[in-house]
Amino acid sequence: MNLTKYIESHRDAHLNELLEFLRIPSVSTKSEHKPDIERAAKWVAEKLRGAGMDTVEIVPTKMHPLVYGESLEAPGKPTVLFYGHYDVQPPEPLDLWTSPAFEPTVRNGNLYARGTADDKGQVHIHLKALESLRQAEGKLPINVKVMIEGEEEVGSESLWGFVTENKQRLKADALVVSDTSMLGRGVPSITYGLRGLNYYQIGVTGPAQDLHSGVFGGAVPNPITILCELFAKLHDKNFRVNIPGFYDDVATLSRAERKALNSLPWKEKEFRKTVGAPELCGEKGYSIVERVWCRPTLELNGIWGGYTGEGSKTVIPSKAYAKFSTRLVPNQDPQKIARLVEKHIRSLLPKTVKMKFEVLSTGKPWVAPFTHPIFKTAQQALEQGFGKKAVFIREGGSIPFVTQMYDTFKVPCVLMGFGLPDENAHAPDEHIALENYFGGIKSIAHFYEGLAKLEAAA
Ligand code: BES
Ligand code: MN
Ligand code: MN
Repeated sequence: MNLTKYIESHRDAHLNELLEFLRIPSVSTKSEHKPDIERAAKWVAEKLRGAGMDTVEIVPTKMHPLVYGESLEAPGKPTVLFYGHYDVQPPEPLDLWTSPAFEPTVRNGNLYARGTADDKGQVHIHLKALESLRQAEGKLPINVKVMIEGEEEVGSESLWGFVTENKQRLKADALVVSDTSMLGRGVPSITYGLRGLNYYQIGVTGPAQDLHSGVFGGAVPNPITILCELFAKLHDKNFRVNIPGFYDDVATLSRAERKALNSLPWKEKEFRKTVGAPELCGEKGYSIVERVWCRPTLELNGIWGGYTGEGSKTVIPSKAYAKFSTRLVPNQDPQKIARLVEKHIRSLLPKTVKMKFEVLSTGKPWVAPFTHPIFKTAQQALEQGFGKKAVFIREGGSIPFVTQMYDTFKVPCVLMGFGLPDENAHAPDEHIALENYFGGIKSIAHFYEGLAKLEAAA
């Protein structure tokens, strides 16, 4: 059967199978979901076998298994390594979901469930593209290696060990990832830049134990006040990060790139609508897309301490905590930034408190040229899938693995994302537009087919 016909005639079957995948609550951060993680890994392995991969392995790791598969039956043809993740973020807060997070539901042309956009839906696009190629053509037109991990949302700790132990085996002409977004509805996109991410936690201790605020208030340090003062000092009036050296290594955007990024069909109105705040804010001198794709930031992610229950409790807490992160851009070095952040924060804290400073994870930014012929193939494939020309974008999110692969293997990394920025990844009512799910299957099938016409690297 012809490829397009096969894909068209299997829409229902593909979608129903995705629903099965989404019903598995493969939340990587919670140990109670360990059996679900195992189940999801098995499910992926089974579908890879179904798609005709010759070798499929569930590789145990210290934490969650990764699934690896290969089909190497196209000698002389290019080899791609596809990477994705089957783990998802926790669904909480549950009461804000219109339909339950692990009971996938279609509404208004969108499929709602945790993992639809990030990243099970996008992984499934590739599984079904491979299956369709195999069914329509009898064999895959290129060599494919597939690596789908279960720890992406908790920092991919085991992944790099597996990659370095299997460097030879994982060799490929290109890395292919679908774990990003399109610029907007109807705008197929290829992402050539991501921000890096350092994640921190600090704990500040004042009094040795909680104190009665009437008996002691006025004569003792309050760690919550001190944290508030601290964080208030970390940005200036122009929304620049107020940490000495923070911007020292930031690469300036070329005029050509600024022009290209600012003339994309990006809609400020939609962005504002998605944000939903009364007004936007951000670093002076930069457009909104520059702020979220190309500029480093410091964000508070959570702050807690003292009494937060019902009613009142007059207390001066002993401790206060905060989680915060810095998004990084080329050529900032995560280790150097972590040192600068810690040094500056220590210098701002008064002698009245002690602080524990932890760096929970680090990840490098990534930007790469898209001149390799594979990007033309990708662009053409997206045009076949969506009937529109694909644009090249950068994004503000982080996939530290892409940088590691790019630095280690020096291969082109092709990021074709099928999510949309307003699809609530990591939030309640996460969804994927069905047109993008189906358009994705078509695009990826055509992409792999198109690659067969490209020359494999020697
Ligand atoms: N798929 C996202 C990364 C992403 C989101 C890229 C939006 C481009 C646009 C990934 O699953 C993710 O959530 N990454 C985390 C960092 C990771 C180390 C936990 C992020 O960006 O916060
Ligand atoms: Mn993801
Ligand atoms: Mn994610």
